[in-house]
Amino acid sequence: MENTNREQKIKTGYKKNANKYDDYITSKKLWSKIIVKIIWGLHDEEYVKTLLPLIPNDLQGKLLDVPAGTAVFTYNKYKTMHKADIFCLDYSQEMLDYALERFNSLNTTNVHCKQGDVGNMPFENNFFDIVLSMNGFHAFPNKQKAFMETYRVLKPGGKFIGCFYIKGERRVSDFVARNVFVRNGTFTLPFMTKKELALQLKEQYTDVKIWNIKSIACFECTK
Ligand SMILES: C[S@@+](CC[C@H](N)C(=O)[O-])C[C@H]1O[C@@H](n2cnc3c(N)ncnc32)[C@H](O)[C@@H]1O
Repeated sequence: MENTNREQKIKTGYKKNANKYDDYITSKKLWSKIIVKIIWGLHDEEYVKTLLPLIPNDLQGKLLDVPAGTAVFTYNKYKTMHKADIFCLDYSQEMLDYALERFNSLNTTNVHCKQGDVGNMPFENNFFDIVLSMNGFHAFPNKQKAFMETYRVLKPGGKFIGCFYIKGERRVSDFVARNVFVRNGTFTLPFMTKKELALQLKEQYTDVKIWNIKSIACFECTK
């Protein structure tokens, strides 16, 4: 599939699903609890709980969250991070509108939301102290560009932290990812295995730590 087609498909996919996203991803409703349990084998967003504590609440530098989505997982964390400059970037304005609604109610000036492409980011080289990327790489239309750009904008010594779906860990998840989520435009092929993710990160970063909870790979590494 042409890159522009993939990009359009992802935009349309999240536009159509933005209003259901929070209920689904947080397993908050009975229907989503059942779906998340069947598809991912998870009770809730347990993998998120292993990642967010890696970001210090008293961070004084710049944090990039890409893709920020609706900020459903990060909102409670960011509202305590008064000393950090936080940039939330996402391709889908519809997803970002939910994040904006959340942050606008806080009256803070340190969280900036911007529509944009992870593969072509409007930030200088070495700009961020931390780049967070949760549930993005299985969606990004051009994963190589995303790895290059997240690396480019991170300072030497900065941390790259994130998670996303990897193939080869759980059959049901693999089947649904390929046959449902690719078709509805919320995931984009090709998917990575844990081994491929390790190779990719070790090529760019040091102190690479990777752990997975079923089909969700989590990582932390240093530029
Ligand atoms: C599954 S959501 C994850 C959002 C959030 N990080 C979370 O964990 O709830 C995936 C997001 O990736 C965004 N996305 C897809 N392709 C993108 C791209 N090229 N650049 C930036 N964001 C993109 C979608 O718009 C969507 O909001």
